[in-house]
Amino acid sequence: MGAAPPVEAVTALEQLLGPATCDLLSDRRGSRAWKVNGSRGTAALKANNPEAAPGRDKAAEMAQEDRHLLALTEAGAISPEYWVGAGVWDGGRWLAVRWIEGTPLWNALAPARGPEGDRPSVRSWLLGNARTWAEQLERLHVAGWAHADVQPTNTLITPDGRAAIFDFALSCGPEVTSRLPYRGALTHTTAPEIADALLITPADTHIQAQPAADIWGLGASLFWCWTGHRPVRYADDTPWTDKLRAIADGKRLRIDDARPWSFPVFEEIIAACLAPAADERPTAADLVTIIEEAQ
Ligand SMILES: Nc1ncnc2c1ncn2[C@@H]1O[C@H](COP(=O)(O)OP(=O)(O)O)[C@@H](O)[C@H]1O
Ligand SMILES: [Mg+2]
Repeated sequence: MGAAPPVEAVTALEQLLGPATCDLLSDRRGSRAWKVNGSRGTAALKANNPEAAPGRDKAAEMAQEDRHLLALTEAGAISPEYWVGAGVWDGGRWLAVRWIEGTPLWNALAPARGPEGDRPSVRSWLLGNARTWAEQLERLHVAGWAHADVQPTNTLITPDGRAAIFDFALSCGPEVTSRLPYRGALTHTTAPEIADALLITPADTHIQAQPAADIWGLGASLFWCWTGHRPVRYADDTPWTDKLRAIADGKRLRIDDARPWSFPVFEEIIAACLAPAADERPTAADLVTIIEEAQ
């Protein structure tokens, strides 16, 4: 029973979507997600888990994501249909967004990770994933936002090969006064300048992630899911601050040592995204152009 969705959320969503079934998708780090499948539509529902170990305030993050979705919609960076509903329940907060039909990036790239991936259809699939991902980031970046948590589990690949980003809870936009301090997201896709800022600032200081950090996250995610290796080498049990130090110091694997097969254009795109200096990385718009020319 612990994994049933909040009654308040289901009641509100059934008014919009019709009688619905709810399937638990994930239960981790203080929040849970369900697929809510109604007769008139489908949503992804998130709610904080009030029994989770103390740590990050997931209810506050969910309220923040609700504000972010509103601001991103007003800025034209995301579709007005994406936000479905949000509210409180007796354990905290819930948030529902439009369901994206797709496969998590790691699974979607499985055929590319082995030697059998070395064929034209997989090459064009990879370039299409990267281009559509950059297109989505470009919409955010021109509106003055950084997603700030670009990583494989926040990216789905739709059946036609398009990347879809979600999870705007930690995003960094023009409004910086009434937000939770940003203290990085997934370590393995953290840009060196963010790692460095985390190491030199107190834990309650907000770090404003910039678009170039999203470009690093994109390159790191593609590196990781195509080669099977995370771009910066450290053991899993390495303390967090030592991982950050390795990232900040640029201790990267060489892509030509890690790749499953040779794909020079794609390797160059990934390497460009992983330029140590933020201002040397391509912008999202540059990436779209570079990939279009390669396709
Ligand atoms: N719009 C969506 N469409 C389909 N699945 C989604 C969507 N949003 C979230 N999910 C699923 O719910 C999970 C958790 O959502 P996410 O927004 O990443 O929250 P958190 O990382 O805080 O748990 C995702 O890993 C994904 O499986
Ligand atoms: Mg997430």
